[in-house]
Amino acid sequence: MSDSNVTASVNICVIGSGYVGLVAAVCFAEMGHHVVCVDNNEEKVAQLQRGETPIFEAHLPEMLVRHLNKGVKFTTDLAEGIHPAEAVFIAVGTPQGNTGAADLSYVEAVVSQIAQAMNGYKVLVEKSTVPVYTNEWITRCMHRHGVASDRFDIVSNPEFLREGTAVGDFLHPDRIVVGANNERSAELLRRIYAPLTDGSYYTQPGALEGPCSAEEPAKLVVTSAQSAEIIKHAANAFLAMKISFINAVANLAEAVEADIEDIALGMGLDARIGPRFLRAGLGYGGSCFPKDVAAFSWVAEQQGVDFHLLSEVRKINERQLDLFFEKIHSALWTLRGKKIAALGLAFKSDTDDIRDSPAIALIRRLLEAGVKVAAYDPAAMESAQRVLPASELLSYVADPYTAAEHADATVILTEWKQFAELDLNRMNRALKFPIMIDGRNLYSPAVMRDHGFTYVSVGRPAIYASTMGRPRKSTI
Ligand code: NAD
Ligand code: UGA
Repeated sequence: MSDSNVTASVNICVIGSGYVGLVAAVCFAEMGHHVVCVDNNEEKVAQLQRGETPIFEAHLPEMLVRHLNKGVKFTTDLAEGIHPAEAVFIAVGTPQGNTGAADLSYVEAVVSQIAQAMNGYKVLVEKSTVPVYTNEWITRCMHRHGVASDRFDIVSNPEFLREGTAVGDFLHPDRIVVGANNERSAELLRRIYAPLTDGSYYTQPGALEGPCSAEEPAKLVVTSAQSAEIIKHAANAFLAMKISFINAVANLAEAVEADIEDIALGMGLDARIGPRFLRAGLGYGGSCFPKDVAAFSWVAEQQGVDFHLLSEVRKINERQLDLFFEKIHSALWTLRGKKIAALGLAFKSDTDDIRDSPAIALIRRLLEAGVKVAAYDPAAMESAQRVLPASELLSYVADPYTAAEHADATVILTEWKQFAELDLNRMNRALKFPIMIDGRNLYSPAVMRDHGFTYVSVGRPAIYASTMGRPRKSTI
Protein backbone atom coordinates (compact mmCIF):
# COMPACT_ATOMS: atom_id res chain seq x y z
CA MET A 1 0.00 0.00 0.00
CA SER A 2 1.36 3.45 -0.90
CA ASP A 3 2.01 6.14 1.72
CA SER A 4 -0.56 8.40 0.11
CA ASN A 5 -3.19 5.72 0.77
CA VAL A 6 -2.17 5.41 4.40
CA THR A 7 -2.42 9.15 5.01
CA ALA A 8 -5.77 9.34 3.20
CA SER A 9 -7.25 6.45 5.14
CA VAL A 10 -10.68 7.03 6.69
CA ASN A 11 -12.19 5.35 9.75
CA ILE A 12 -15.35 3.66 8.54
CA CYS A 13 -18.11 1.69 10.22
CA VAL A 14 -20.27 -0.59 8.09
CA ILE A 15 -23.47 -1.86 9.69
CA GLY A 16 -24.69 -5.14 8.21
CA SER A 17 -22.36 -7.85 6.94
CA GLY A 18 -24.53 -9.33 4.21
CA TYR A 19 -23.84 -9.39 0.47
CA VAL A 20 -23.41 -5.61 0.36
CA GLY A 21 -22.05 -4.75 3.83
CA LEU A 22 -19.41 -7.47 3.87
CA VAL A 23 -18.20 -6.76 0.34
CA ALA A 24 -18.10 -3.00 1.06
CA ALA A 25 -16.24 -3.50 4.37
CA VAL A 26 -13.59 -5.78 2.88
CA CYS A 27 -13.17 -3.62 -0.24
CA PHE A 28 -12.82 -0.44 1.83
CA ALA A 29 -10.03 -2.22 3.73
CA GLU A 30 -8.52 -3.24 0.39
CA MET A 31 -8.58 0.47 -0.55
CA GLY A 32 -6.55 1.30 2.57
CA HIS A 33 -9.26 2.38 5.04
CA HIS A 34 -9.83 1.23 8.62
CA VAL A 35 -13.15 -0.54 8.88
CA VAL A 36 -15.24 -1.95 11.69
CA CYS A 37 -18.11 -4.06 10.38
CA VAL A 38 -21.03 -4.57 12.77
CA ASP A 39 -23.72 -7.21 12.57
CA ASN A 40 -26.29 -8.33 15.15
CA ASN A 41 -26.07 -11.94 13.94
CA GLU A 42 -23.64 -13.43 16.46
CA GLU A 43 -23.02 -16.60 14.50
CA LYS A 44 -22.12 -14.66 11.35
CA VAL A 45 -19.77 -12.35 13.26
CA ALA A 46 -18.04 -15.31 14.93
CA GLN A 47 -17.55 -16.91 11.52
CA LEU A 48 -16.12 -13.68 10.08
CA GLN A 49 -13.81 -13.23 13.07
CA ARG A 50 -12.40 -16.69 12.24
CA GLY A 51 -11.79 -15.49 8.68
CA GLU A 52 -14.58 -17.61 7.18
CA THR A 53 -16.72 -16.06 4.44
CA PRO A 54 -20.41 -16.84 5.01
CA ILE A 55 -21.40 -16.25 1.36
CA PHE A 56 -20.22 -17.64 -1.96
CA GLU A 57 -18.55 -14.70 -3.71
CA ALA A 58 -15.46 -14.72 -5.92
CA HIS A 59 -12.29 -13.03 -4.47
CA LEU A 60 -13.96 -12.39 -1.11
CA PRO A 61 -12.44 -15.24 0.96
CA GLU A 62 -8.82 -14.36 0.15
CA MET A 63 -9.39 -10.61 0.49
CA LEU A 64 -11.08 -11.10 3.86
CA VAL A 65 -8.20 -13.18 5.19
CA ARG A 66 -5.67 -10.64 3.88
CA HIS A 67 -7.26 -7.71 5.73
CA LEU A 68 -8.76 -9.40 8.80
CA ASN A 69 -7.81 -7.61 12.02
CA LYS A 70 -5.65 -5.19 10.00
CA GLY A 71 -7.91 -3.10 7.76
CA VAL A 72 -11.17 -4.72 8.83
CA LYS A 73 -12.59 -6.23 12.00
CA PHE A 74 -15.98 -7.59 12.94
CA THR A 75 -18.11 -7.07 16.02
CA THR A 76 -21.66 -7.28 17.34
CA ASP A 77 -21.06 -4.16 19.45
CA LEU A 78 -22.42 -1.19 17.52
CA ALA A 79 -20.77 1.44 19.74
CA GLU A 80 -17.36 -0.15 19.09
CA GLY A 81 -17.92 0.43 15.38
CA ILE A 82 -19.46 3.88 15.67
CA HIS A 83 -17.05 5.58 18.10
CA PRO A 84 -13.93 5.79 15.90
CA ALA A 85 -15.91 6.25 12.66
CA GLU A 86 -16.09 9.37 10.51
CA ALA A 87 -18.50 7.64 8.12
CA VAL A 88 -21.14 5.07 9.07
CA PHE A 89 -22.48 3.00 6.17
CA ILE A 90 -25.90 1.45 6.74
CA ALA A 91 -26.11 -1.80 4.74
CA VAL A 92 -28.95 -3.72 6.37
CA GLY A 93 -31.81 -5.35 4.47
CA THR A 94 -34.76 -3.38 3.08
CA PRO A 95 -37.15 -6.21 2.15
CA GLN A 96 -40.50 -5.82 0.48
CA GLY A 97 -43.35 -5.00 2.87
CA ASN A 98 -47.02 -5.98 2.46
CA THR A 99 -47.92 -2.95 0.33
CA GLY A 100 -44.94 -3.36 -2.01
CA ALA A 101 -43.17 -0.50 -0.20
CA ALA A 102 -39.70 -1.19 1.20
CA ASP A 103 -39.76 -2.25 4.84
CA LEU A 104 -37.42 0.25 6.47
CA SER A 105 -37.71 -1.08 10.01
CA TYR A 106 -34.14 -2.46 10.00
CA VAL A 107 -32.84 0.92 8.84
CA GLU A 108 -34.82 2.74 11.52
CA ALA A 109 -33.61 0.34 14.22
CA VAL A 110 -30.00 0.94 13.19
CA VAL A 111 -30.41 4.74 13.04
CA SER A 112 -31.87 4.75 16.57
CA GLN A 113 -28.88 2.76 17.80
CA ILE A 114 -26.45 5.07 16.00
CA ALA A 115 -28.12 8.12 17.57
CA GLN A 116 -27.52 6.67 21.01
CA ALA A 117 -23.86 5.91 20.28
CA MET A 118 -22.93 9.29 18.73
CA ASN A 119 -19.71 10.76 20.15
CA GLY A 120 -19.00 13.52 17.60
CA TYR A 121 -19.78 14.63 14.02
CA LYS A 122 -20.35 11.73 11.62
CA VAL A 123 -21.65 11.17 8.13
CA LEU A 124 -24.37 8.52 7.96
CA VAL A 125 -24.37 6.85 4.57
CA GLU A 126 -27.36 5.06 3.07
CA LYS A 127 -25.82 2.04 1.33
CA SER A 128 -29.00 -0.02 1.53
CA THR A 129 -31.45 0.52 -1.32
CA VAL A 130 -34.08 2.91 0.05
CA PRO A 131 -36.96 4.98 -1.35
CA VAL A 132 -36.62 8.69 -2.02
CA TYR A 133 -36.83 10.89 1.07
CA THR A 134 -35.34 8.22 3.34
CA ASN A 135 -32.54 10.75 3.97
CA GLU A 136 -35.16 13.08 5.47
CA TRP A 137 -36.62 10.32 7.62
CA ILE A 138 -33.18 9.44 8.96
CA THR A 139 -32.60 13.11 9.80
CA ARG A 140 -35.96 13.25 11.59
CA CYS A 141 -35.14 10.06 13.49
CA MET A 142 -31.77 11.47 14.62
CA HIS A 143 -33.50 14.66 15.83
CA ARG A 144 -36.13 12.64 17.70
CA HIS A 145 -33.29 10.95 19.56
CA GLY A 146 -31.90 14.35 20.50
CA VAL A 147 -28.96 14.51 18.05
CA ALA A 148 -28.49 18.10 16.83
CA SER A 149 -28.22 18.86 13.08
CA ASP A 150 -24.61 20.04 13.31
CA ARG A 151 -23.47 16.61 14.58
CA PHE A 152 -24.32 14.61 11.47
CA ASP A 153 -25.04 14.63 7.77
CA ILE A 154 -26.84 12.04 5.67
CA VAL A 155 -25.47 10.91 2.31
CA SER A 156 -27.00 8.49 -0.17
CA ASN A 157 -24.36 6.25 -1.75
CA PRO A 158 -26.32 3.50 -3.50
CA GLU A 159 -24.61 0.23 -4.32
CA PHE A 160 -24.73 -1.22 -7.83
CA LEU A 161 -22.77 -4.46 -7.33
CA ARG A 162 -24.15 -7.74 -8.67
CA GLU A 163 -23.94 -10.94 -6.68
CA GLY A 164 -21.37 -13.32 -8.12
CA THR A 165 -19.18 -10.44 -9.34
CA ALA A 166 -19.59 -8.25 -6.26
CA VAL A 167 -15.93 -7.60 -5.42
CA GLY A 168 -15.02 -6.78 -9.02
CA ASP A 169 -18.07 -4.54 -9.35
CA PHE A 170 -17.19 -2.70 -6.14
CA LEU A 171 -13.55 -2.04 -7.00
CA HIS A 172 -14.19 -1.43 -10.71
CA PRO A 173 -17.55 0.36 -10.67
CA ASP A 174 -19.25 1.79 -13.77
CA ARG A 175 -19.81 4.84 -11.56
CA ILE A 176 -20.00 5.84 -7.92
CA VAL A 177 -23.03 7.92 -6.99
CA VAL A 178 -22.86 10.26 -4.00
CA GLY A 179 -26.07 12.05 -3.07
CA ALA A 180 -25.11 14.74 -0.60
CA ASN A 181 -26.97 17.85 0.42
CA ASN A 182 -23.81 19.73 1.48
CA GLU A 183 -20.14 19.96 0.51
CA ARG A 184 -18.70 18.76 3.84
CA SER A 185 -20.29 15.33 3.58
CA ALA A 186 -19.67 15.04 -0.19
CA GLU A 187 -15.99 15.72 0.47
CA LEU A 188 -15.70 12.85 2.95
CA LEU A 189 -17.20 10.44 0.41
CA ARG A 190 -14.76 11.76 -2.24
CA ARG A 191 -11.90 10.97 0.18
CA ILE A 192 -13.23 7.47 0.80
CA TYR A 193 -13.46 6.64 -2.90
CA ALA A 194 -10.27 8.55 -3.87
CA PRO A 195 -8.16 5.37 -4.40
CA LEU A 196 -10.64 4.34 -7.12
CA THR A 197 -11.29 7.80 -8.59
CA ASP A 198 -7.64 8.98 -8.64
CA GLY A 199 -6.59 5.54 -9.91
CA SER A 200 -4.01 4.89 -7.15
CA TYR A 201 -5.70 1.60 -6.17
CA TYR A 202 -5.15 0.16 -9.64
CA THR A 203 -1.37 0.62 -9.41
CA GLN A 204 -1.19 -1.06 -5.99
CA PRO A 205 0.64 -4.43 -6.01
CA GLY A 206 -1.92 -7.24 -6.02
CA ALA A 207 -4.82 -4.91 -6.95
CA LEU A 208 -7.79 -6.77 -8.40
CA GLU A 209 -7.73 -6.45 -12.18
CA GLY A 210 -10.77 -5.20 -14.04
CA PRO A 211 -12.05 -2.56 -16.41
CA CYS A 212 -10.83 0.48 -14.39
CA SER A 213 -7.17 1.51 -14.44
CA ALA A 214 -4.89 4.37 -13.39
CA GLU A 215 -5.47 5.86 -16.85
CA GLU A 216 -9.22 5.31 -16.75
CA PRO A 217 -10.21 5.39 -13.08
CA ALA A 218 -13.72 5.13 -11.64
CA LYS A 219 -16.09 8.05 -12.11
CA LEU A 220 -17.87 9.66 -9.19
CA VAL A 221 -21.09 11.59 -9.67
CA VAL A 222 -22.31 13.98 -6.98
CA THR A 223 -26.06 14.67 -6.85
CA SER A 224 -28.64 15.66 -4.27
CA ALA A 225 -29.61 12.92 -1.80
CA GLN A 226 -33.08 12.62 -3.40
CA SER A 227 -31.62 12.18 -6.88
CA ALA A 228 -29.20 9.50 -5.69
CA GLU A 229 -32.03 7.59 -3.99
CA ILE A 230 -33.99 7.70 -7.24
CA ILE A 231 -30.96 6.75 -9.38
CA LYS A 232 -30.73 3.43 -7.55
CA HIS A 233 -34.41 2.52 -7.90
CA ALA A 234 -34.55 3.76 -11.50
CA ALA A 235 -31.43 1.81 -12.51
CA ASN A 236 -32.74 -1.47 -11.10
CA ALA A 237 -36.21 -0.90 -12.56
CA PHE A 238 -34.69 -0.12 -15.96
CA LEU A 239 -32.59 -3.30 -15.96
CA ALA A 240 -35.64 -5.34 -14.90
CA MET A 241 -37.58 -3.67 -17.73
CA LYS A 242 -34.89 -4.68 -20.23
CA ILE A 243 -35.23 -8.31 -19.13
CA SER A 244 -39.04 -8.24 -19.28
CA PHE A 245 -38.86 -6.57 -22.69
CA ILE A 246 -36.65 -9.27 -24.15
CA ASN A 247 -38.79 -11.97 -22.54
CA ALA A 248 -41.92 -10.49 -24.14
CA VAL A 249 -40.11 -10.39 -27.49
CA ALA A 250 -39.02 -14.01 -26.89
CA ASN A 251 -42.65 -15.07 -26.55
CA LEU A 252 -43.44 -13.33 -29.82
CA ALA A 253 -40.39 -14.96 -31.45
CA GLU A 254 -41.65 -18.37 -30.37
CA ALA A 255 -45.06 -17.72 -31.88
CA VAL A 256 -43.55 -16.92 -35.30
CA GLU A 257 -40.64 -19.39 -35.17
CA ALA A 258 -37.98 -16.69 -34.99
CA ASP A 259 -34.90 -16.95 -32.77
CA ILE A 260 -34.56 -14.66 -29.73
CA GLU A 261 -30.78 -15.11 -29.57
CA ASP A 262 -30.45 -13.69 -33.10
CA ILE A 263 -32.93 -10.95 -32.25
CA ALA A 264 -31.06 -9.97 -29.06
CA LEU A 265 -27.78 -9.92 -31.01
CA GLY A 266 -29.27 -7.72 -33.70
CA MET A 267 -30.81 -5.36 -31.16
CA GLY A 268 -27.83 -5.28 -28.80
CA LEU A 269 -25.37 -4.24 -31.49
CA ASP A 270 -27.17 -0.89 -31.55
CA ALA A 271 -24.94 1.09 -29.19
CA ARG A 272 -27.99 2.91 -27.85
CA ILE A 273 -29.49 -0.40 -26.69
CA GLY A 274 -26.38 -2.42 -25.79
CA PRO A 275 -26.10 -6.21 -25.55
CA ARG A 276 -26.30 -6.65 -21.76
CA PHE A 277 -29.42 -7.70 -19.88
CA LEU A 278 -31.01 -8.99 -23.05
CA ARG A 279 -30.84 -12.66 -22.08
CA ALA A 280 -34.28 -14.19 -22.37
CA GLY A 281 -35.14 -16.87 -19.84
CA LEU A 282 -37.20 -17.74 -16.81
CA GLY A 283 -37.54 -14.12 -15.73
CA TYR A 284 -35.52 -12.17 -13.21
CA GLY A 285 -35.28 -13.12 -9.54
CA GLY A 286 -33.04 -12.33 -6.61
CA SER A 287 -33.31 -10.22 -3.51
CA CYS A 288 -33.39 -6.95 -5.44
CA PHE A 289 -35.16 -6.61 -8.80
CA PRO A 290 -38.55 -7.95 -7.65
CA LYS A 291 -38.61 -5.89 -4.46
CA ASP A 292 -37.09 -2.76 -5.99
CA VAL A 293 -39.55 -2.70 -8.91
CA ALA A 294 -42.37 -2.99 -6.36
CA ALA A 295 -40.87 -0.31 -4.11
CA PHE A 296 -40.29 2.12 -7.00
CA SER A 297 -43.85 1.54 -8.17
CA TRP A 298 -45.06 2.37 -4.68
CA VAL A 299 -42.97 5.56 -4.59
CA ALA A 300 -44.52 6.72 -7.90
CA GLU A 301 -48.01 5.92 -6.64
CA GLN A 302 -47.41 7.89 -3.43
CA GLN A 303 -46.32 10.88 -5.50
CA GLY A 304 -49.37 10.57 -7.79
CA VAL A 305 -47.20 9.73 -10.80
CA ASP A 306 -48.54 7.28 -13.40
CA PHE A 307 -45.81 4.63 -13.78
CA HIS A 308 -47.87 1.61 -14.84
CA LEU A 309 -44.98 0.51 -17.00
CA LEU A 310 -43.51 -0.97 -13.82
CA SER A 311 -46.60 -3.13 -13.19
CA GLU A 312 -46.25 -4.50 -16.72
CA VAL A 313 -42.56 -5.27 -16.11
CA ARG A 314 -43.58 -7.28 -13.05
CA LYS A 315 -46.50 -9.03 -14.79
CA ILE A 316 -44.37 -10.12 -17.75
CA ASN A 317 -41.83 -11.46 -15.29
CA GLU A 318 -44.37 -13.49 -13.35
CA ARG A 319 -45.97 -14.82 -16.55
CA GLN A 320 -42.55 -15.97 -17.77
CA LEU A 321 -42.37 -18.61 -15.05
CA ASP A 322 -45.95 -19.77 -15.82
CA LEU A 323 -45.00 -20.14 -19.48
CA PHE A 324 -41.93 -22.18 -18.60
CA PHE A 325 -43.98 -24.46 -16.36
CA GLU A 326 -46.43 -24.94 -19.25
CA LYS A 327 -43.52 -25.86 -21.51
CA ILE A 328 -42.48 -28.63 -19.12
CA HIS A 329 -46.06 -29.80 -18.86
CA SER A 330 -46.46 -29.82 -22.61
CA ALA A 331 -43.21 -31.70 -23.21
CA LEU A 332 -44.06 -34.41 -20.66
CA TRP A 333 -47.83 -34.70 -21.29
CA THR A 334 -48.78 -35.48 -17.65
CA LEU A 335 -46.73 -34.58 -14.61
CA ARG A 336 -47.79 -36.62 -11.59
CA GLY A 337 -45.29 -39.41 -10.88
CA LYS A 338 -42.73 -38.17 -13.41
CA LYS A 339 -39.13 -37.52 -12.41
CA ILE A 340 -37.29 -34.35 -13.40
CA ALA A 341 -33.63 -33.46 -13.05
CA ALA A 342 -33.49 -29.80 -11.97
CA LEU A 343 -30.19 -28.11 -12.75
CA GLY A 344 -29.89 -24.91 -10.74
CA LEU A 345 -31.26 -23.55 -7.49
CA ALA A 346 -29.60 -20.12 -7.15
CA PHE A 347 -31.40 -17.09 -8.63
CA LYS A 348 -28.43 -16.63 -11.01
CA SER A 349 -25.04 -18.22 -11.54
CA ASP A 350 -21.93 -17.68 -9.38
CA THR A 351 -23.87 -17.17 -6.15
CA ASP A 352 -25.38 -19.31 -3.39
CA ASP A 353 -28.26 -16.85 -2.98
CA ILE A 354 -31.72 -18.37 -3.45
CA ARG A 355 -33.78 -15.34 -2.39
CA ASP A 356 -36.69 -14.99 -4.85
CA SER A 357 -35.05 -17.58 -7.08
CA PRO A 358 -37.13 -18.53 -10.15
CA ALA A 359 -35.54 -22.00 -9.83
CA ILE A 360 -36.93 -22.52 -6.34
CA ALA A 361 -40.37 -21.19 -7.37
CA LEU A 362 -40.44 -23.58 -10.35
CA ILE A 363 -39.36 -26.58 -8.27
CA ARG A 364 -42.11 -25.81 -5.74
CA ARG A 365 -44.65 -25.89 -8.57
CA LEU A 366 -43.31 -29.19 -9.88
CA LEU A 367 -43.54 -30.71 -6.40
CA GLU A 368 -47.11 -29.42 -6.02
CA ALA A 369 -47.92 -31.16 -9.31
CA GLY A 370 -46.64 -34.46 -7.86
CA VAL A 371 -43.35 -34.52 -9.79
CA LYS A 372 -40.26 -36.14 -8.27
CA VAL A 373 -37.34 -33.71 -8.48
CA ALA A 374 -33.63 -34.49 -8.24
CA ALA A 375 -31.91 -31.13 -7.80
CA TYR A 376 -28.33 -30.00 -8.16
CA ASP A 377 -26.58 -26.63 -7.92
CA PRO A 378 -22.82 -25.98 -7.69
CA ALA A 379 -23.17 -23.51 -4.76
CA ALA A 380 -26.73 -23.16 -3.49
CA MET A 381 -27.52 -26.68 -2.21
CA GLU A 382 -27.25 -25.72 1.45
CA SER A 383 -29.28 -22.53 1.22
CA ALA A 384 -31.93 -24.31 -0.86
CA GLN A 385 -32.29 -27.12 1.66
CA ARG A 386 -33.05 -24.58 4.37
CA VAL A 387 -36.19 -23.38 2.55
CA LEU A 388 -37.04 -26.58 0.65
CA PRO A 389 -36.00 -29.61 2.71
CA ALA A 390 -35.46 -32.98 1.03
CA SER A 391 -38.62 -35.09 1.04
CA GLU A 392 -40.20 -38.13 -0.59
CA LEU A 393 -40.51 -36.10 -3.79
CA LEU A 394 -37.39 -33.93 -3.56
CA SER A 395 -33.80 -35.14 -3.43
CA TYR A 396 -30.54 -33.20 -3.60
CA VAL A 397 -27.84 -34.98 -5.59
CA ALA A 398 -24.12 -34.60 -6.15
CA ASP A 399 -23.98 -33.73 -9.87
CA PRO A 400 -26.08 -33.24 -13.02
CA TYR A 401 -25.58 -36.83 -14.23
CA THR A 402 -26.89 -38.34 -11.00
CA ALA A 403 -29.86 -35.96 -11.23
CA ALA A 404 -30.57 -37.17 -14.76
CA GLU A 405 -30.55 -40.91 -13.88
CA HIS A 406 -33.91 -42.41 -14.93
CA ALA A 407 -35.43 -38.93 -15.16
CA ASP A 408 -38.15 -38.17 -17.71
CA ALA A 409 -36.50 -34.84 -18.52
CA THR A 410 -33.84 -32.35 -17.46
CA VAL A 411 -34.69 -28.72 -16.82
CA ILE A 412 -32.04 -25.98 -16.71
CA LEU A 413 -32.99 -23.28 -14.23
CA THR A 414 -29.78 -21.35 -13.51
CA GLU A 415 -27.19 -20.10 -16.02
CA TRP A 416 -24.14 -21.78 -14.40
CA LYS A 417 -21.24 -22.26 -16.81
CA GLN A 418 -21.06 -25.91 -15.70
CA PHE A 419 -24.55 -26.48 -17.13
CA ALA A 420 -23.50 -25.05 -20.48
CA GLU A 421 -20.68 -27.60 -20.67
CA LEU A 422 -22.48 -30.86 -19.90
CA ASP A 423 -21.35 -34.11 -21.50
CA LEU A 424 -24.49 -34.39 -23.61
CA ASN A 425 -23.92 -38.03 -24.55
CA ARG A 426 -23.65 -38.93 -20.89
CA MET A 427 -26.79 -36.94 -20.08
CA ASN A 428 -28.64 -38.65 -22.92
CA ARG A 429 -27.62 -42.10 -21.61
CA ALA A 430 -28.62 -41.25 -18.01
CA LEU A 431 -32.06 -39.88 -18.86
CA LYS A 432 -35.05 -42.16 -19.38
CA PHE A 433 -36.03 -39.92 -22.32
CA PRO A 434 -33.63 -37.44 -23.91
CA ILE A 435 -35.70 -34.34 -23.15
CA MET A 436 -34.16 -31.04 -22.04
CA ILE A 437 -36.19 -27.93 -21.24
CA ASP A 438 -33.76 -25.07 -20.96
CA GLY A 439 -34.88 -21.93 -19.13
CA ARG A 440 -31.57 -20.18 -19.80
CA ASN A 441 -30.90 -20.91 -23.49
CA LEU A 442 -27.49 -22.45 -22.76
CA TYR A 443 -27.38 -24.67 -25.86
CA SER A 444 -27.72 -24.28 -29.57
CA PRO A 445 -30.80 -26.16 -30.82
CA ALA A 446 -28.71 -27.61 -33.68
CA VAL A 447 -26.22 -29.15 -31.22
CA MET A 448 -29.07 -30.64 -29.22
CA ARG A 449 -30.60 -32.11 -32.35
CA ASP A 450 -27.25 -33.71 -33.21
CA HIS A 451 -27.18 -35.28 -29.74
CA GLY A 452 -30.65 -36.74 -30.19
CA PHE A 453 -32.48 -34.51 -27.73
CA THR A 454 -35.93 -33.06 -27.67
CA TYR A 455 -34.90 -29.54 -26.74
CA VAL A 456 -37.29 -26.80 -25.67
CA SER A 457 -35.84 -23.40 -24.81
CA VAL A 458 -37.07 -19.80 -24.58
CA GLY A 459 -37.90 -17.74 -27.68
CA ARG A 460 -36.50 -20.31 -30.11
CA PRO A 461 -38.08 -23.08 -32.17
CA ALA A 462 -38.19 -26.34 -30.20
CA ILE A 463 -36.31 -29.38 -31.52
CA TYR A 464 -38.05 -32.75 -31.31
CA ALA A 465 -36.15 -36.03 -31.26
CA SER A 466 -37.31 -38.13 -34.20
CA THR A 467 -39.13 -40.67 -31.99
CA MET A 468 -41.07 -38.04 -30.07
CA GLY A 469 -42.87 -35.71 -32.48
CA ARG A 470 -44.15 -32.24 -31.75
CA PRO A 471 -46.95 -32.11 -29.15
CA ARG A 472 -50.08 -30.25 -30.20
CA LYS A 473 -51.14 -27.20 -28.22
CA SER A 474 -54.24 -28.99 -26.93
CA THR A 475 -52.06 -31.28 -24.81
CA ILE A 476 -51.01 -28.35 -22.60
P1 NAD B 1 -28.39 -9.23 3.65
O1 NAD B 1 -29.69 -9.71 4.17
O2 NAD B 1 -27.48 -10.18 2.98
O3 NAD B 1 -27.56 -8.53 4.83
C1 NAD B 1 -28.11 -7.69 5.78
C2 NAD B 1 -27.30 -7.85 7.07
O4 NAD B 1 -27.72 -6.86 8.01
C3 NAD B 1 -27.51 -9.21 7.75
O5 NAD B 1 -26.27 -9.83 7.98
C4 NAD B 1 -28.22 -8.86 9.07
O6 NAD B 1 -27.86 -9.73 10.12
C5 NAD B 1 -27.70 -7.45 9.30
N1 NAD B 1 -28.55 -6.64 10.22
C6 NAD B 1 -29.90 -6.49 10.21
N2 NAD B 1 -30.27 -5.67 11.22
C7 NAD B 1 -29.14 -5.29 11.86
C8 NAD B 1 -28.87 -4.46 13.00
N3 NAD B 1 -29.86 -3.85 13.66
N4 NAD B 1 -27.59 -4.30 13.37
C9 NAD B 1 -26.59 -4.92 12.71
N5 NAD B 1 -26.79 -5.72 11.65
C10 NAD B 1 -28.04 -5.91 11.23
O7 NAD B 1 -28.76 -8.03 2.67
P2 NAD B 1 -27.95 -7.53 1.36
O8 NAD B 1 -28.25 -8.42 0.22
O9 NAD B 1 -26.55 -7.26 1.75
O10 NAD B 1 -28.71 -6.16 1.07
C11 NAD B 1 -28.57 -5.05 1.93
C12 NAD B 1 -29.11 -3.82 1.23
O11 NAD B 1 -28.34 -3.55 0.05
C13 NAD B 1 -30.56 -3.95 0.73
O12 NAD B 1 -31.18 -2.69 0.84
C14 NAD B 1 -30.41 -4.32 -0.73
O13 NAD B 1 -31.52 -3.92 -1.51
C15 NAD B 1 -29.18 -3.51 -1.11
N6 NAD B 1 -28.41 -4.05 -2.24
C16 NAD B 1 -28.18 -5.40 -2.33
C17 NAD B 1 -27.42 -5.90 -3.37
C18 NAD B 1 -27.18 -7.38 -3.53
O14 NAD B 1 -26.67 -7.78 -4.57
N7 NAD B 1 -27.52 -8.21 -2.57
C19 NAD B 1 -26.84 -5.02 -4.30
C20 NAD B 1 -27.07 -3.64 -4.15
C21 NAD B 1 -27.86 -3.17 -3.11
C1 UGA C 1 -28.90 -6.58 -9.65
C2 UGA C 1 -28.26 -5.44 -10.46
O1 UGA C 1 -27.67 -5.98 -11.64
C3 UGA C 1 -27.17 -4.74 -9.62
O2 UGA C 1 -26.66 -3.63 -10.36
C4 UGA C 1 -27.81 -4.25 -8.33
O3 UGA C 1 -26.84 -3.65 -7.50
C5 UGA C 1 -28.44 -5.40 -7.59
O4 UGA C 1 -29.42 -6.05 -8.45
C6 UGA C 1 -29.17 -4.95 -6.37
O5 UGA C 1 -29.63 -3.83 -6.28
O6 UGA C 1 -29.29 -5.79 -5.51
P1 UGA C 1 -28.20 -9.06 -8.99
O7 UGA C 1 -29.61 -9.16 -8.49
O8 UGA C 1 -27.10 -9.52 -8.13
O9 UGA C 1 -27.88 -7.53 -9.39
O10 UGA C 1 -28.08 -9.91 -10.34
P2 UGA C 1 -28.30 -9.64 -11.90
O11 UGA C 1 -27.11 -10.09 -12.62
O12 UGA C 1 -28.78 -8.27 -12.17
O13 UGA C 1 -29.49 -10.66 -12.22
C7 UGA C 1 -30.79 -10.48 -11.67
C8 UGA C 1 -31.74 -11.50 -12.26
O14 UGA C 1 -31.99 -11.22 -13.62
C9 UGA C 1 -31.21 -12.94 -12.21
O15 UGA C 1 -32.29 -13.81 -11.89
C10 UGA C 1 -30.72 -13.19 -13.63
O16 UGA C 1 -30.74 -14.54 -13.99
C11 UGA C 1 -31.74 -12.38 -14.41
N1 UGA C 1 -31.25 -11.92 -15.73
C12 UGA C 1 -30.20 -11.06 -15.82
C13 UGA C 1 -31.90 -12.34 -16.89
O17 UGA C 1 -32.88 -13.13 -16.82
N2 UGA C 1 -31.47 -11.88 -18.10
C14 UGA C 1 -30.42 -11.02 -18.21
O18 UGA C 1 -30.07 -10.65 -19.35
C15 UGA C 1 -29.77 -10.60 -17.04
